[in-house]
Amino acid sequence: MKICKNKSELEATLQLLRNSGKTIGLVPTMGALHQGHASLLQRARQENDIVVSSVFVNPIQFNNPEDLQNYPRNFESDCKLLEENGCDLVFSPTVEEMYPKGESIEHFDFGSLEKVMEGKNRPGHFQGVGVIVSRLFKLIQPSTAYFGEKDFQQVAIIQNLVEQLHLPITIKPCPIIRESDGLALSSRNVLLTKDQRTLAPNIYKILYESKKKRHNTEVIELKKWVENEIEKYPQMKLEYFEIANSRTMQSIKTWSEASEQVGCIVVAFQKIRLIDNIRYDNNLK
Ligand code: PAJ
Repeated sequence: MKICKNKSELEATLQLLRNSGKTIGLVPTMGALHQGHASLLQRARQENDIVVSSVFVNPIQFNNPEDLQNYPRNFESDCKLLEENGCDLVFSPTVEEMYPKGESIEHFDFGSLEKVMEGKNRPGHFQGVGVIVSRLFKLIQPSTAYFGEKDFQQVAIIQNLVEQLHLPITIKPCPIIRESDGLALSSRNVLLTKDQRTLAPNIYKILYESKKKRHNTEVIELKKWVENEIEKYPQMKLEYFEIANSRTMQSIKTWSEASEQVGCIVVAFQKIRLIDNIRYDNNLK
């Protein structure tokens, strides 16, 4: 596996591969890799000649400096996981390399997509995601890029980004990978205390129960039920729970408003935010 730290080296390496007609699959990450990331890499490996991944803790998508500072980093074990899952090339630039001093930063208009949930609760977050992902896309020019449905709204943002920039890149959303107790894998899980880790699976347990109730409960009632269930755990602070149209990400009040619906949640254990979601339009798994 080749490791590239700067853009010129990366571009030279990829140009050679592109000239020989190889397809490139990209898995963008912020490192602290786990089996959720591995699932994206495996899918990319199956579907492409070349698998490229990026490891870059993108400062401009953090709206909270403490969160940025505490974000887990371990490049050595990341490289091991990348290599084991068939990655050919990893791009791990410095902040200066991605954001040269004096260079202006793009602004994107994501419309109403950015005004709800993660967009509303983390001002500037999706601008930061849009900037880094668009720069990675332009540098790497993958044919396909892989993103996890754990960050459901992020996938919608990326799809919108590709459309507005008219990039010839297929975005493939990949299913959420969970621990055996249901907790969605996240780089932030290692920051939880033992007690918090014991409580955290209740997030998915409640989402899963809500899916069972979906057919005989109205949207507003179901939303209240989830909120009440989370409130039973004083250590878990509900930041939001929204039932939304899974294409537009806008909240719905009745099931018939959307053909595909998703319940999106963020629960905070003190300063650690855990994000999760459940689709209501498919069968229970
Ligand atoms: P990061 O949080 O490292 O996630 C990288 C990719 O892995 C994202 O597409 C995310 O949705 C996916 N992922 C994380 N946990 C997952 C899980 N349990 N199951 C399936 N997929 C999972 O998301 C980012 O980084 C950044 O915002 C990034 C897109 C790299 C831009 O900086």
